Amino acid sequence: MIEFLDAVFYGGIATMRPGTPYGAIAKGAVGVRGGRIAFVGERSAVPAAAIGPATAVRDLAGTWITPGLIDCHTHLVFGGNRSAEFEERLAGVSYEAAAREGRGILSTVAATRAASEADLIEVASRRLQTLMRDGVTTVEIKSGYGLCLDAELKMLRAARALGQRHGIRVRTSFLGAHAIPAEFAGRADAYVDALVQEILPAVAAEGLADAVDGFAEAIAFSPAQITRVFEAAARLGLPVKLHADQLTDGNGAALAASFGALSADHLEYTSDAGARALARAGTVAVLLPGAYATVGARQPPPVAAFRTHGVAMAVATDCNPGSSPLSSLLMAMNLACCLFRLTPEEALAGVTRHAAAALGLSDEVGTIEVGKAAELLIWDVGHPRELSYWMGGVFPEVVLF
Ligand code: NIG
Ligand code: FE
Repeated sequence: MIEFLDAVFYGGIATMRPGTPYGAIAKGAVGVRGGRIAFVGERSAVPAAAIGPATAVRDLAGTWITPGLIDCHTHLVFGGNRSAEFEERLAGVSYEAAAREGRGILSTVAATRAASEADLIEVASRRLQTLMRDGVTTVEIKSGYGLCLDAELKMLRAARALGQRHGIRVRTSFLGAHAIPAEFAGRADAYVDALVQEILPAVAAEGLADAVDGFAEAIAFSPAQITRVFEAAARLGLPVKLHADQLTDGNGAALAASFGALSADHLEYTSDAGARALARAGTVAVLLPGAYATVGARQPPPVAAFRTHGVAMAVATDCNPGSSPLSSLLMAMNLACCLFRLTPEEALAGVTRHAAAALGLSDEVGTIEVGKAAELLIWDVGHPRELSYWMGGVFPEVVLF
């Protein structure tokens, strides 16, 4: 006997399963039972016996239904802002120059250390609600503006609390290797000692990190230093990700791939060999057009090489006060199309299926498939490409079970 569905939706379904554009079913149906997707297919194929007296039936013909969106790279929790640095950059001072002169990330570290946990939750809540208006149902949040044990723990607790408060799936990444804090100036290796011996083990013991991230760059950490952090992550059983090749080609993509990283992020300067390494490792390339635009970068990531070698591409906001003060994932999709020439279909796959993979959540979210979480977005649009086309003004109805 077929059990009754809790709900069934009729409409265009962009399942985002691979194989066909958008995995689209133009006259489709999604059935939900017990918080999970229980049926997806042609409208005509819904078994009549699955519709009981209590099944909620919604006919949404003329709209499109997608999976919940996933922002797989954010620094949502931070104190203060860097609008003065933005102004300075427009007047000709580069992102790297501000960082080298001790402003940049370190100024946000000072503001974040000074903020209470409650204040951090409050300001990040506003940014998170902005993201959620776009239909974001899963968000990754990094630490990395604390850079000492207490402040890193404070950031990660705030990230977890945001998930609770807003009923959204939060994945945290420990980003202790984001910058060298002022008290370790000129002693980067000693800071890495503290990270691997003290800070990361304590964060892991509290269960506050789902992954470990780092910033491999001339103005941040060397490959040897990142290697030590990633080896410590491996000892603790935590997956890794990496800010790689953002400002220079530092072989970051290959380094991330050599650790089987979930993702390598930014990648403007990644070489063809780096792209091949990502493909071999199954590491997702996370593209961050908000940062590209805001730092005034000129070299887009090697999208053609990623396509040729079969590297999955995700798209994220990178929401942060320095390089990407962006809290709209739909806008990130538009920017990925306009600045990096992604197709609208690649952009939508980049915030659904591939973003799920970048967080190790492919079994749970990212496509509309039987067994996955029933987190659906209903869009009043004639075609799913419109999600990348409009620059603002399109918001979904979010349906969660
Ligand atoms: O993803 N690249 C390094 N980290 C951040 C920027 C952080 C900041 O400038 O505050 C990024 O772009
Ligand atoms: Fe980032």
